[in-house]
This record gives sequence, C-alpha cells and structure tokens, in this order.
Amino acid sequence: MSKAVLAYTGALDNLICIHWLRTVKNIKVVTFSGNFGQPEFLEEVGERAVEAGATAAHIGDIRERFVREFCFQALRAGARYESGYVLSSALSRPPLAQELVRVARDEGCEFVAHGCRGIGNDQVRLETYLQTLAPDLRIVAPLFELGLKTPEDDEAYAKRWGLPRSVNRQLRYNVDQNLWGVALQLGPRADLWMEPPDDTYIMTRRISDAPDKPRYVEIGFQQGLPVSLDNERHPPLEMVDILNRLGAQYAIGRLDVIEDRISGLKAREIYEAPAAHLLHQAHTALEELTLDKDVFQFRDVTARRYADLVYRGKWFTPFREALDAWFEVIEKPVTGTVKLKLLGGTSLVVGRQSPHSLYRSDMLSFDGDVERTMRRRRHAPDSEHGSRPPTSRRD
Ligand code: ARG
Repeated sequence: MSKAVLAYTGALDNLICIHWLRTVKNIKVVTFSGNFGQPEFLEEVGERAVEAGATAAHIGDIRERFVREFCFQALRAGARYESGYVLSSALSRPPLAQELVRVARDEGCEFVAHGCRGIGNDQVRLETYLQTLAPDLRIVAPLFELGLKTPEDDEAYAKRWGLPRSVNRQLRYNVDQNLWGVALQLGPRADLWMEPPDDTYIMTRRISDAPDKPRYVEIGFQQGLPVSLDNERHPPLEMVDILNRLGAQYAIGRLDVIEDRISGLKAREIYEAPAAHLLHQAHTALEELTLDKDVFQFRDVTARRYADLVYRGKWFTPFREALDAWFEVIEKPVTGTVKLKLLGGTSLVVGRQSPHSLYRSDMLSFDGDVERTMRRRRHAPDSEHGSRPPTSRRD
C-alpha cells in the first residue's frame, strides 16, 4: 500500500485529509506536526491523528532552527513585505518542507499531502519547496481534490462521515501562528471599512490594557544579528520569547494591511508580531548609524527584493544565497545597542550606540556650520578636533 506524509496541524480540515487518504484513496498516512512556537499542544494533536487513522504521528521541534536560520537571516536582511509584514508564515514554509521530505524518506513515502485548499500563497510556497527539495515525491492536496472551500464545507463532510467535529474548535479557522508572528484572516467578505473586532487579535493585549508606565528595553546586535537584551546575552529563541511577551503586554506589532498576493489579487491581512517588530525597528536604527550612505540606500532595494523572494517561495535559490552573502558583508559594522521605549500600542527608538558609529558630533552643529568646523580645523591644526582625521569607515 502506498504511503503519504501529511503536514498536520490538528484542525478539522486535517482530519478530513487523513480520512480521505485512508478510506477513499486507500493510502497509508503518517503525519508530521512542526513546533514553530505556536501555542497548540502538539502531543495531543498527534494522538488525535492516530485516532483518526494515521499509522504514526511525528512531531518535530523546529523552533531553534527556525529562528536562527530563517527569521534572523530575514531580520538581518531587513525583510518586511510591502507595508511591513515580517513574513512569519512565509518563512516557516522552507523548514516545514525540509522536515516533510525528511519524514517522507524515513518512512518510505511516495506522497506528501497538505491541507491547502486552492492556489493560495501557502500552496504555491509549499509545493515549490517540495518540488525543489524532492522532485520525485508526489504532492496531493485532499481538500482541493474534494472541493472543500469553507469551514461549513468541512463540517458537512465531517457530519457525513461521522468524524469528530467538536474536538478542534479551539483551533481557529485560518489562523497561522508561530514565534515570529501570527496571520489572521477576517474572511473574504469582511468589509474593508470595518475595524477588526478586539477579539480578532490573539497575541497582543488591547492597547487600553497596556501598562501606563513606559518600559525601556535595550537590544544589542553583533554584525546585524541580535545577541542581547538589557545587556544580558540570550540565545535567539529565548530572546524572541522575551520580546514577544514584553511587546504583547504593550500591544506592539499589530498590522492591518492590504497585501499583494502571489496570484496578483489583493487581500486584507491582519498580523501581530511583537518581537519581530521590535527587532526590526532596533536593527534599522542601528543600520542608520553604522552603514555608509550608498550602502544604506542600496540596502533598501535589496531588503525589498529579499522580502519579495521569501514571499514568493524562492528561499532555495541562488538569488537568496547571493543576497545573504551581500548582507553578510554590509552588516559587518552593524554592532551596538539600541534603546527602545515601549508605550501602549507603540515603540520608539530613543537611543543608539555603536563602536562603528559614523556619527560625528564634533563636525555637526545646529546652525549648519560643518563648513565653519572644517575651516577651524584647517586654521588650528592642534585644536581639540583639528588633529583627528575624519573617520569614514572601520575595517
Ligand atoms: N498572507 C500571509 C502570507 O501569505 C499569511 C498567510 C497565512 N496562512 C494561513 N493559512 N492563514 O504569508
């Protein structure tokens, strides 16, 4: 009997995938659920997969690798899509595809199955990655084959086949959450003029519930990568955890945007990404201070391209590797600390320092007299500033 590995989150739509593969297609199913820092209890989720007919339920803890190799690479590259989406969902697909291929090989599967419903972003990305990594595996999308488009369609299928319908109600429809952020959907028919109801948001507190007192946090970077919080070193995962909690308390990182999907259609997307928002903000502030003008301005162009390639499912490409090499070079001086001030619903950059700072207070003044400073230096070579040549770059 042939075998499929199913990308499995535990939601009802995934139980339907198991059922259809097992009983209609007569294909054995093993599931894979990745822990990317979403709050679900994956052990329980796995048990349910077996109850529903899977022969094995694999669970993988991808958190550390996800942060280090994907989120922090994208952070160093300043990768935010269009109006600021930090690509939390898009960045989780390349490691998910890698894990699915690994399990497929270990289990001797011929198929990889997933619960996407149509040619949306998730399906394009996942299938592109699977085809790149393992062109021999056959991809199957049961919900698409079945023509199930809405939660109501799922309910009807579950009722017809006697699948347990109540178990997964706590998993909200079309919410994709991981430690880099959460993507929420209001539904295709939601009015663009309607403000999302407060219970739309699941990671952050209401702005009105944020503490009255502002909170300062200092984020330290080394060569473009975050390494410390308030002068204490933390491994990447821990840092993201702390900043998510802190940012969530202050309702930071909410976004309500219209986004250009891969298909060309525009969609309204709601995001929350407290840690990613704070890290990107601090990182950009340090780049302003340490990158020379041409590099800083061109970095903007490359950051956009990087975000775009992540969005379009092009992680495993020479272009991404080349851009990473560029960022590795230009981010060398991006070492130092940025002080942020957190207030209800917002955060401000209020301090920055770096051993590679290109800021020259001795050549600046408020009445625009750099020229006067230059003249003074020429005429008084022994004066306080005159004997030091202007530093332009570090090594
Ligand atoms: N629009 C975002 C993206 O394309 C989020 C997708 C979230 N996926 C989901 N199944 N809710 O990256």
